[in-house]
Amino acid sequence: MIDRRFYPVGEPEGNERQFCSVMRRLAGGVSIITAGRDDNIAGMTVTSLTSLSATPPRLLVSINKFASSFALIERYRLFGVNILGSDQHEIADRFSNGMLKGRQRFAGADWLYGMSGIPLLANSLATVECEVEEIIERHSHGIIVGSLLSFKLSHRVSGLVYWNGRYVEIDRDADLDLLAEVSIPLSHVR
Ligand SMILES: Cc1cc2nc3c(=O)[nH]c(=O)nc-3n(C[C@H](O)[C@H](O)[C@H](O)COP(=O)(O)O)c2cc1C
Repeated sequence: MIDRRFYPVGEPEGNERQFCSVMRRLAGGVSIITAGRDDNIAGMTVTSLTSLSATPPRLLVSINKFASSFALIERYRLFGVNILGSDQHEIADRFSNGMLKGRQRFAGADWLYGMSGIPLLANSLATVECEVEEIIERHSHGIIVGSLLSFKLSHRVSGLVYWNGRYVEIDRDADLDLLAEVSIPLSHVR
């Protein structure tokens, strides 16, 4: 039997609004991609970061070709990945604010240059320096495959996700407290 509750999607236009409604249901971890060197630096908020393979260690991120960071990534063939923690909404807002450009987005954030010369945010849950292995251009975006050069892990684990159009904190410790309240033995979840 055919399930007739599916909405057909037309090509080539498709239906952008309905596509967005679908993608809003997908919770995505929030990271900042950083790029450039010296005074010519930029960064942007992304949720498209994902792991490509563990052997060899590769990740990928999909970036709009008009984003200012894209040109710097293409030019230097390097980029930084800064995975945000639950208390870093403000940084996510700054790095997606079209009114702020280049270095302005870094103002107020604690940042430094990595070994490869790219800017990195100091208080991320995890920070990675990547070399570009490949850029696959498709439609409005470039799928950037990164090969890991170095990484740093923080002792914190509480993460930040974007879901249904807003930021949601995943606070591991608070979640464990909640589980304790409903009497799930903590030894099973810690
Ligand atoms: C939660 C969130 C996730 C985003 N994810 C992406 C992404 O994966 N790829 C992308 O190209 N833009 C993404 N954006 C939009 C960019 O952050 C924004 O367009 C960018 O900062 C613009 O940079 P520019 O002003 O330097 O061109 C996202 C924005 C938000 C708020």
